[in-house]
Amino acid sequence: MEIKYFLKKEKAFELMAKIIIEKVIEKPNVVLGLATGGTFEKVYENVICLSKIKNVNFSKVFTFNLDEYVNLKQELYKNSYHFYMDNNLFNFININHDNIHFPCNFQNNYNSGELFQDYDKKIHDIGGIEIQLLGLGANGHIGFNEPGSKIDSITRCIELSHTTIKDNSRYFQSINDVPKKAVTMGLKTIIDNSKMIYLLAFGENKRDALKRLIDSKGFDPNYPVTILKNFKNLIIFTDLKFN
Ligand code: GLP
Repeated sequence: MEIKYFLKKEKAFELMAKIIIEKVIEKPNVVLGLATGGTFEKVYENVICLSKIKNVNFSKVFTFNLDEYVNLKQELYKNSYHFYMDNNLFNFININHDNIHFPCNFQNNYNSGELFQDYDKKIHDIGGIEIQLLGLGANGHIGFNEPGSKIDSITRCIELSHTTIKDNSRYFQSINDVPKKAVTMGLKTIIDNSKMIYLLAFGENKRDALKRLIDSKGFDPNYPVTILKNFKNLIIFTDLKFN
């Protein structure tokens, strides 16, 4: 595990974008694992900017998003991660839409616990994910693997915790509009298929979760991010300092 401290998070967003762009140039058919949330808006903005400057070709790149809401009302489609990705990245690069993957359709309803083995199989069959981006939930979730997630969890439908619903309500008009469920890549999906993981965590509300990862001796299901403790190729970008 490597921790990269940034005084200004903008520098981290720039560096993350540079790493992605350089990888696409080096390997045009690279497989990327993509995350959403506020943290990645600026990363993708930088990717778009660099891709224009360097005239980068994304047409052979494959992407697998980490997660998506479930049973989102039609009028709330702008809150879907499909919409987020289109609006923050895909509409501005020449990606082939057949190469974009999400774990589910946000308009459908699924039962919590329902497994999405096909998603894991697709990721596995394509040869895994070269660069997996991860944000961090204040409660220690990665993707939408909420506290209580199992070490061997695969892509599945999960009920969102109250903390996550509250945290993510800032993107909705009312907290009642926030979906109660999501489909997320599992912890095992992430660990087994990623070659390199970048975890980005900025701001004081991520301190506790990040400290749990740094101090952990192994996996603690109350803080799913601790699954990364023994993952060799992990780089953390943060503006938090720990003694
Ligand atoms: C959501 C996403 C996570 C993301 C988290 C943090 O819950 N499902 O993948 O890591 O938000 O988001 P933010 O970057 O807005 O703090």
